[in-house]
Amino acid sequence: MKLLEVKSLTKQFGGLRAVSAFDLSIEEGEIFGLIGPNGAGKSTLFNCVAGVYPPSGGDVLFSGKSISGQKPWNLCKRGLARTFQIVKPFASRSVLYNVMVGSFATTGKSAAAERKAREVLAFLHLDKKTEILAGNLTIADRKRLEIARALATEPRLLLLDEVMAGLRPTEVDEMVAIIRTIRKNGITVFVIEHIMRAIMALSDRIAVIHFGQKIAEGTPAEVASDKNVIKAYLGEEYAVS
Ligand SMILES: Nc1ncnc2c1ncn2[C@@H]1O[C@H](COP(=O)(O)OP(=O)(O)OP(=O)(O)O)[C@@H](O)[C@H]1O
Ligand SMILES: [Mg+2]
Repeated sequence: MKLLEVKSLTKQFGGLRAVSAFDLSIEEGEIFGLIGPNGAGKSTLFNCVAGVYPPSGGDVLFSGKSISGQKPWNLCKRGLARTFQIVKPFASRSVLYNVMVGSFATTGKSAAAERKAREVLAFLHLDKKTEILAGNLTIADRKRLEIARALATEPRLLLLDEVMAGLRPTEVDEMVAIIRTIRKNGITVFVIEHIMRAIMALSDRIAVIHFGQKIAEGTPAEVASDKNVIKAYLGEEYAVS
């Protein structure tokens, strides 16, 4: 079943067309990667899917129904959750509080919200840090907190925007394992990432965006050997390695 369909999606910021007639469709249970150079339109595409920006044109279907123009909190209730590239926790609040904001949004009851938050924090290996203030976490822990907040809303589709940026190689490996387990637990994952070895290892399929347009789509192996992708993004070094 197609969980997400993006149809001819366009987003215009004044004279700049950040996303241009973009099509894509993600099957339930897939890990789908989105890659492309800085400023290519990746986060803008996420923002249009997650309701942060209304699209300028085209449509977004979630589970077969148009969600175009809907607000993020409504989409969250329907099972679509995202992380932000720039992590913005409530810095002066505890880790537990931050995740309960996510779980309370769907459960509406504080006991259930706390139970869900603790369960998700344990899954992300943050259960010993529940009382630490979010502002005092390391980058790696902040990225996990961001995922915990999204997971606490019990999504069907999780959008991850560069959750591995700034992590050490071992932390990247841990994150890859976490994302695989999230999918194993039945959640479809749509992921933006610049760390090639991670996105290539994780994704079932990858789309490549360049100046707002899709220039390639396929399995990691197909995309990595595509001449246009090598030229626009990966570089010749990647092609020979
Ligand atoms: N709110 C906005 N207003 C105006 N222009 C914007 C806005 N958000 C993004 N842009 C522009 O749209 C283009 C695409 O930006 P976007 O953040 O989607 O790129 P990206 O692919 O996520 O890049 P990166 O890899 O650096 O995160 C850029 O030229 C950016 O400057
Ligand atoms: Mg971005």
